[in-house]
Amino acid sequence: MGKQVYLVLMLFFSIAIAAPGDDIPMGSWLQAKEKVTQLQLYVQDILSGPNPSNVQVASANSTFTSPTLFGLVAVLDDPVRTEPNPDAEIVGRAQGLFAFASLEEISLHFTFDLVFTGGEYNGSVLNIVGHNPYLHEYRELSVVGGTGFFQLARGIIGVRTVSFNSSTGDAFFQYNITVLHY
Ligand SMILES: *[C@@H]1O[C@H](CO)[C@@H](O)[C@H](O)[C@H]1NC(C)=O
Ligand SMILES: *[C@@H]1O[C@H](CO)[C@@H](O)[C@H](O)[C@H]1NC(C)=O
Ligand SMILES: *[C@@H]1O[C@H](CO)[C@@H](O)[C@H](O)[C@H]1NC(C)=O
Ligand SMILES: *[C@@H]1O[C@H](CO)[C@@H](O)[C@H](O)[C@H]1NC(C)=O
Repeated sequence: MGKQVYLVLMLFFSIAIAAPGDDIPMGSWLQAKEKVTQLQLYVQDILSGPNPSNVQVASANSTFTSPTLFGLVAVLDDPVRTEPNPDAEIVGRAQGLFAFASLEEISLHFTFDLVFTGGEYNGSVLNIVGHNPYLHEYRELSVVGGTGFFQLARGIIGVRTVSFNSSTGDAFFQYNITVLHY
C-alpha cells in the first residue's frame, strides 16, 4: 500500500473514531461506585488441524536449540468457552500474542485481549498482560484495562491447565477472573 493511501485511510479512521465520542459517559465514573465481576471461563488453545488458533510467527536462530524455546513468538485467537469442552458455548476470543521470554524455564510473556462475542458482556473487552510460567500448576495474569462493560478495569486471573494433549499440543486453560471496574 502506498504511503498516501495509508495516510488517507488513517485520516478516515481518525475522523470515524472521533465522531461518536458522546457514547462514552466521560466523567461519570467519578460519581459511580466501583463494581466487582467474577468470571470462570475456559480458553481453548488449538495447535493441530487445518485451523490452528495459535500460530508461531517468529523465532531466533537459537530458539530450537534452546531448552526453553527462548525467542519464539506466537499469535493467538483462541475460542473462550463456558466449559472445558470443544462443544461448549463460545463467549469470547483470546486475541493477542505471547513470547517465550525466559532463559531459565519455559515461561511466556502474554499480552492479549479477551474480546467478548456473546453472553451478557458481548462487545466488551478485557486487556490482559502477564508472566505465564507455563509448566507451573497455578499462575496469575493481570487485567490492566477494559472497555464497554469493563471500563477502567483492573484485576487478577488465576490460570490452570485443565487438559493438554501431548501429541497435538491442544489444551484447555481455566481462567478465574476477578475484575474491578466502573
Ligand atoms: C540465522 O541463520 C541464517 C541461516 O543460517 C543466517 O543467514 C543468519 O545470518 C543467522 N542470523 C543470525 C543473527 O545469526
Ligand atoms: C454480539 O454483538 C454483535 C454486535 O452487536 C452482534 O452482531 C451479535 O449477534 C452478538 N452476539 C450474540 C451471541 O449475542
Ligand atoms: C477457580 O476457582 C475454583 C473454585 O471456584 C477452584 O476450585 C479452582 O482451583 C480455581 N482455579 C484457578 C485457576 O484459580
Ligand atoms: C490427543 O489427540 C489425538 C489426535 O486428535 C487423539 O487421537 C487422542 O485421543 C488425544 N488424546 C487425548 C488424551 O485426548
